[in-house]
Amino acid sequence: MIEILCENGRFHLRNGQMSYVMQLVSGKYLMHAYFGAPLREPRGRVSARFVRDEASFGRNELGLDTLPQECPTFGYGDLREGALEAELADGSRVLALEYAAHRVVDGKPALKGLPASYGENAKTLEITLRDALSGVEAVLCYTVFDDVCGVTRSVRVTNGGEQPLTLHRVMSACVDFPATDYRLLTLSGAWARERHWDERPIAQGETAVSSARGASSHQSAPFMALLAPGAGEESGEVYGLSLVYSGSFRASATVDHNGQTRAMIGINPFDFSWRLETGESFQSPEAVLVYSSAGLRGMSRAFHRFCLGHIVRGRFAKAQRPVLINNWEATYFGFDEQKLLSIAAEAAKLGVELFVLDDGWFGHRDSDNCSLGDWVEDRRKLPEGLCGLSRKIHALGLQFGIWMEPEMVSPDSDLYRAHPDWCLHVPGRQRLEGRHQLVLDMGREDVQQYVIAAVSRVLESAEINYIKWDMNRNMTPIGSAVLPSERQRETAHRYMLGLYRVLETLTQRFPNVLMESCAGGGGRFDLGMLHYMPQTWCSDDTDAEERCYIQYSTSLLFPPCTMGAHVSAVPNHQLERVTPLHTRSAVAMGGTYGFELDVTRLTDAEKQEMAREIAYYKQRRDTLMYGDFYRLKSPYTGNLCAWMAVSQDGSEAVVTCVRQRSENYRAGTALRLCALQPETLYLVVETGETLYGDELMQMGLDISLPVGDDTAMVRTLRAVPTKG
Ligand code: DGJ
Repeated sequence: MIEILCENGRFHLRNGQMSYVMQLVSGKYLMHAYFGAPLREPRGRVSARFVRDEASFGRNELGLDTLPQECPTFGYGDLREGALEAELADGSRVLALEYAAHRVVDGKPALKGLPASYGENAKTLEITLRDALSGVEAVLCYTVFDDVCGVTRSVRVTNGGEQPLTLHRVMSACVDFPATDYRLLTLSGAWARERHWDERPIAQGETAVSSARGASSHQSAPFMALLAPGAGEESGEVYGLSLVYSGSFRASATVDHNGQTRAMIGINPFDFSWRLETGESFQSPEAVLVYSSAGLRGMSRAFHRFCLGHIVRGRFAKAQRPVLINNWEATYFGFDEQKLLSIAAEAAKLGVELFVLDDGWFGHRDSDNCSLGDWVEDRRKLPEGLCGLSRKIHALGLQFGIWMEPEMVSPDSDLYRAHPDWCLHVPGRQRLEGRHQLVLDMGREDVQQYVIAAVSRVLESAEINYIKWDMNRNMTPIGSAVLPSERQRETAHRYMLGLYRVLETLTQRFPNVLMESCAGGGGRFDLGMLHYMPQTWCSDDTDAEERCYIQYSTSLLFPPCTMGAHVSAVPNHQLERVTPLHTRSAVAMGGTYGFELDVTRLTDAEKQEMAREIAYYKQRRDTLMYGDFYRLKSPYTGNLCAWMAVSQDGSEAVVTCVRQRSENYRAGTALRLCALQPETLYLVVETGETLYGDELMQMGLDISLPVGDDTAMVRTLRAVPTKG
């Protein structure tokens, strides 16, 4: 049951799994009091832990510097970096935010122009803080859902004064923890090496991850977790913070001299500002704060629930996703209709359900140096256009999907020749190309209209069931032709608002098209994009071993049904590694399963194996996609990578185990499972054994892989019905 109790200056949000408590000090300063395991009713003076002399607040002293606050501002008693920073018309940067009002509303209000969580079984608390002198108002919004162990938080700032002001920083969430001995876990990487596990202790000073690229980025994910001493995968207290946003962000943990850790997450204040005229408001993205008393496993469970139940929308949110084949690594730009149909026909025979035509079908795009923006079929390659191809693909019994990169323009394109000022640029400076392309200024309304019309035209021109929405370069230099000089630092965020508007329009208009987001692989894998597109291409690295690392740590935040994962050819195109088909398939089953190879080049034996793998997957698809996901063995710490998924009703579990290197003298390895019913008897489908849940969880499942090529094992456990 969700409760928001507001009494005697104390605000207590709880849902049976956690409590989040705030308290007013001196009737005006909103202090963070507690976030953690559920409390009955905190009665003590929680503030006593932090405020040595509460009376000092009435005597103009620097007391705020030691106070854990919900929305700290720098420069009026608190000397730490704040969560909100505004420059007023007189040049001052001081805000004295004091409690003004609060209200509780049922449900979860939408956030204007931004992706945000939704849900009916929710309650929201809005606390208004006001700076009396300037009239600046900050409304802090907290939502509790019945099924998520955590809260969401966002901030809406309104200029209630008579002069314009400029916001320099609006962090979505700030939590001042009363301890400093945490380890910080973040996801860091690069193109084709996204979201690798990065863990380190924090110490006095600041530790932060961020992106200033105009995308949530390959380099850092908008996420961090604080692990209490002793916490790990299976146990201990963990706090996870993430952002429902796809642009530049910052997540930081700052340990102060006073025994506190200030954790903040929000839009990157670096290269950001926002001018507010009188009466205008600025809405921050939403942050999600998760608490787990069951280690990282518990944290991931909370994030997965949040993502599936409160972020991903539409008819595909919980629907079976088709097994797809994508022609990118099979042909790159070198294809014609006949080649595509030969791949599709062979794939259909093997059980594939969706054919995806990747880059190169439009303009005169024989390489990546032209035609982005000219979304008209290349009749040299597709004589009967998308419509003709789609008809033929459907006749093979497959659905049809295409690739687009709508946010970009090639200098060699009709679009660029007609609208050279539509891209991000700084007048007088060279327009820097990345992959021979420029970034359209999505903050412009005319560009938004163009993109909506261009994508709609394509989707209406043929029976298209799926779209891969790609984005292959970051923003630099950042400048907009339509913004005045004092608003140039708004460009990157306005871009995101424009993109979200486009995606909202298109997803409403085409609810039956499954959308997969992509950014040169996983360069924009975040809760913001998942609000519009239920799956994201995880990485351009399709090597099975590297994918173990990427998918394993991506699962910290995201469930398998959001992660695009394909079986590709060997030697692998990125790393040149040769991995057995069975292993590639086992790893791809950890995400939205598909293929990315020229199936016409496979031997008959390989085709038969592929057909077997697909049939095997389909029989377990619901469990693999929507079961509860658990990490079992980390590839970062040993030679094995293992995970399992348990169906919602607990009757089926699928265990995947991948060995990185072949090893001698490792017979009898047992893998301890979890989340089974101890007293239930399970049939191991592949071996015919029957074992009780307690044995599987305590002694473990035998996963001794023979020395040699076969480096993966997938096992299915089915609960044996009890007689009578
Ligand atoms: C980057 C994507 O990640 C690839 O899968 C592919 O779609 C290429 N772009 C096409 O240009």
